[in-house]
Amino acid sequence: MAALLRISDLHLHFKLFEGISYVLKGVNLEVGRGERVALVGESGCGKSVTLRLILGLVRQNNAQIKGHIEFDGLDLLHSPAAKLRELRGRRISPIFQDPMASLNPTFTIFDQMSAVIRRGGKARRRAEVFELARSALRQVAITDPERVLGAYPFQLSGGLNQRVLIAMALVNQPDLILADEPGTALDVTVQEQTLRLMRRLTEETHSAVLLITHNLGVVREFAERVYVMYAGSVVEEGLTKQIFASPKHPYTRALLASVPKLSGGELPQGIEGFVPDYTKPPSGCRFHPRCPHVHAACQRDQPLRDLGNGHRVACVLYEEVSRA
Ligand SMILES: Nc1ncnc2c1ncn2[C@@H]1O[C@H](COP(=O)(O)OP(=O)(O)O)[C@@H](O)[C@H]1O
Ligand SMILES: [Mg+2]
Repeated sequence: MAALLRISDLHLHFKLFEGISYVLKGVNLEVGRGERVALVGESGCGKSVTLRLILGLVRQNNAQIKGHIEFDGLDLLHSPAAKLRELRGRRISPIFQDPMASLNPTFTIFDQMSAVIRRGGKARRRAEVFELARSALRQVAITDPERVLGAYPFQLSGGLNQRVLIAMALVNQPDLILADEPGTALDVTVQEQTLRLMRRLTEETHSAVLLITHNLGVVREFAERVYVMYAGSVVEEGLTKQIFASPKHPYTRALLASVPKLSGGELPQGIEGFVPDYTKPPSGCRFHPRCPHVHAACQRDQPLRDLGNGHRVACVLYEEVSRA
């Protein structure tokens, strides 16, 4: 089956004053139609830049991008900005971490929703647009949509604004939702509600989701499949249940051993050290300086080894399953 989103051998470097920052190193990732996939790793490991690359939002002159990002057969890295804008909000909807930063403070919720709805092309007349906006807000359990539509973001709570953003992301029934730690700027209850709501609604709309999180607890609740990222590389991937039942990479094991509660802090406890300085990344497996099982071969690049049933791990400790 052709993937909806396919990222292949993605590299991202930034030219900085201090030298070149080698952030992403050959990332491969796929999301199928209607599939809920998580990208997990501790803070600074390259999750948000990956998502911003998909959206065409890494445009700094000092950024060097190599590899491929394909969405439904379309080459996203080489599409004109106008094409990407057309996709965003219609077929690909982002949901970012902080709702207040994503909403425009000078427009009412209705103004902002109506811009999105009109872009989707399903309603044109004001009354139709209003009706669609109202039903989208009801779907995210907003009981007084008329009041919310007339309000400015600062007049609503963070939790309400977050739900408004989910409603906006889903109103055009996109093929793919890209969610970067949604709700984590708010409190834990809001984050839990956000994820539950996203899960239920995307099941109804059959939208695929790529969810970014530093929290494996969230992955278990939300995703069917997971990619574990460390310092700009995918170190392990598989079905969520495989990864939880039988984590292979020492980094995944360490992450799991320290699964923070939903209320946990940004950095998992129990893994010594830090994500490396990207201007001087370790050679080979970038986790090796922190790894309890480090081995001479870890200085060399470690390809993902296929363990069967879609479970793959980039670590010398494992033999590939031979395929008939
Ligand atoms: N525009 C940029 N210029 C230079 N470095 C950047 C830029 N954007 C992100 N980075 C660096 O890329 C690394 C990964 O960042 P990010 O994707 O935000 O991590 P995560 O979302 O996993 O916490 C960080 O070291 C960050 O400083
Ligand atoms: Mg991030």
